[in-house]
Amino acid sequence: MLHNDLCEKLGIEFPIFAFSHCRDVVVAVCKAGGLGVLGAVEMDAEQLDRELSIIEAELDGRPYGVDIVIPAKLAVAEEFGDITEEKLREFIPEDHQSYVAEVLDAHDVEPLPEGTPRRPGLISWAGDGASSLVDVALKHDVALIANALGTPPPDVVDRVHQSGRLVAALAGKARHARKHVDAGVDIVIAQGYEAGGHTGEVASMVLIPEIVDEVSPVPVLAAGGIGGGRQMAAAMALGASGVWCGSVWLTTQESDSHPVLKEKLLKASSSDTERSRSLTGKPARQIRTEWTEAWNGESGPNPLEMPLQTILVVEALQRIDRSAKGPDDGPGRLLGGAVGQIVGRMNTSLPAGRVVMDMVEEFLEVAESFSDELDH
Ligand SMILES: Cc1cc2nc3c(=O)[nH]c(=O)nc-3n(C[C@H](O)[C@H](O)[C@H](O)COP(=O)(O)O)c2cc1C
Repeated sequence: MLHNDLCEKLGIEFPIFAFSHCRDVVVAVCKAGGLGVLGAVEMDAEQLDRELSIIEAELDGRPYGVDIVIPAKLAVAEEFGDITEEKLREFIPEDHQSYVAEVLDAHDVEPLPEGTPRRPGLISWAGDGASSLVDVALKHDVALIANALGTPPPDVVDRVHQSGRLVAALAGKARHARKHVDAGVDIVIAQGYEAGGHTGEVASMVLIPEIVDEVSPVPVLAAGGIGGGRQMAAAMALGASGVWCGSVWLTTQESDSHPVLKEKLLKASSSDTERSRSLTGKPARQIRTEWTEAWNGESGPNPLEMPLQTILVVEALQRIDRSAKGPDDGPGRLLGGAVGQIVGRMNTSLPAGRVVMDMVEEFLEVAESFSDELDH
């Protein structure tokens, strides 16, 4: 019952999809019978190539996926042909820069030691970045390429299909899902309000059946608020062909999340997240921190549009990461990251494979209890 057509198509045991930026999580989920999907947005082509070679050496032919981000709208970047981070920096108001410096000073965040390599602020979602990631993915044994924040462009869909792989795309509204399917997307990921990361305003309970009905017979994966078998059973009852989870892996033993962040996530309740534009300029659900509070519009300027906000804050976030030693020190109180409301149930750090198996077992218990009840 859990092994369905989608599993057959992808060569996996369970329709459990794990989005993670961490290759060890991807490997562990694939080994447990799900499909790990590596989030590549912050990588360049060389890094992705290296990561995929390592994953493949571990997986011995098992399928896995790659996730890229090609936004439908990049407010500022679209106006420039040849976009560079340097050019875009000129559009960042001084007030915003001094506000970031003020917040960091007030929290005793240390400067980066001289010679520290800087994280790029203009990541692969602009220019040719994502396209070169697709090229790399297609040189490897990637079974699925997923895209966030918009319908993948026709050349990406064509290239992926020509090489015999599948394309998936995230949608937060039924009309986005329709657009994806009209463009040739093979799997729609219906992501509800509860989800970690960039997310819309419609909750999973309402969104999943809406999208299923809109795109049927195209398979839909349910995303947002799923961390266990009961939630998985609910998602499948709503018509999903599988689940796509992102948050639940952040506290697993394999996850490379910052140790202070892991500690915070393990303690957080489902009320401790908020949708904030403070990381990228678009609303993204994350753990509530003094950083998100600093950008809630009460004490300082509003966040900038994507991609300027990321360029504005990238170094600040790198400094916070390096300086945070505990959840209650100044930098630790600023330290955060994307996570969904399911964080309230992420209370123990387990191996990622165990999370998969617990989900499967709990799903089967629910399915059995339903069929027992119906027999009476
Ligand atoms: C830390 C984090 C980073 C994310 N980054 C991306 C991303 O780069 N691309 C993407 O397609 N989705 C991204 N997402 C969303 C996930 O793919 C997934 O849809 C979402 O986490 C599902 O909801 P859940 O958090 O309740 O499991 C991210 C989620 C988290 C928690």
